Amino acid sequence: MDDMLTFEEIKNNAEIQMYFRYMGKYFESTNEAFNLIKRKSYDENHALQAAEVAERVLKYLGYKKREQELSKIAAYIHDIGNIISKNGHDQSSAIMFLNIIGDDRYDEDVFTIASAVGCHEDKTAEPATPIAAAVVIGDKTDVSHERIGREDLYDLDKHSLVVAACQKVNVIVNKEKMSIELKIKIDSTICSVMNYFEIFMSRINYCRRASNVLKCNFELYINDDKFL
Ligand SMILES: [Fe+2]
Repeated sequence: MDDMLTFEEIKNNAEIQMYFRYMGKYFESTNEAFNLIKRKSYDENHALQAAEVAERVLKYLGYKKREQELSKIAAYIHDIGNIISKNGHDQSSAIMFLNIIGDDRYDEDVFTIASAVGCHEDKTAEPATPIAAAVVIGDKTDVSHERIGREDLYDLDKHSLVVAACQKVNVIVNKEKMSIELKIKIDSTICSVMNYFEIFMSRINYCRRASNVLKCNFELYINDDKFL
């Protein structure tokens, strides 16, 4: 098993690094809206943040080391398909990953990663595996990657205002309670808690479904008040 795929290998893969560089450049130079709000949805910071949370969720819930690593890899590459289009990027990310790995290295681990990536935006089904569920938690709880400069607030749409209002986001895994807690600090001078719900309800639903797969309750705290 010396050909086993590792996070380090993926993190240092020249092709994947090129995608991250290109996506950063592309969105900065061609998309005015992205420039305006300095959104960094597709860059490596989000990938690393999602990977860290996905790994931690499985670790604290007692999953095997290998499962933690597969989830970390999947979370790191889950959005690379955005280089083609946001539309259907879950599928394209998975296919790009398979192409990068090459069919001479296909094994169960590779397919587990591909399927976790391929279903991370699925609104209709539960994540297929705990590994896929941890990717969803890592992805959908990361709001801070879309950090927006306060100086730009005058011209923001509702979604961006909500993102700008999120001052701090914490994901806490509690094995005793079997809960995954999302703790958010919102600056209510920028947006109301109601606005937050309006914009992020679908994210919250993703997190709830993913938590179910992990046999956990999903809890949401905003400014220390419990909402879920
Ligand atoms: Fe995505």
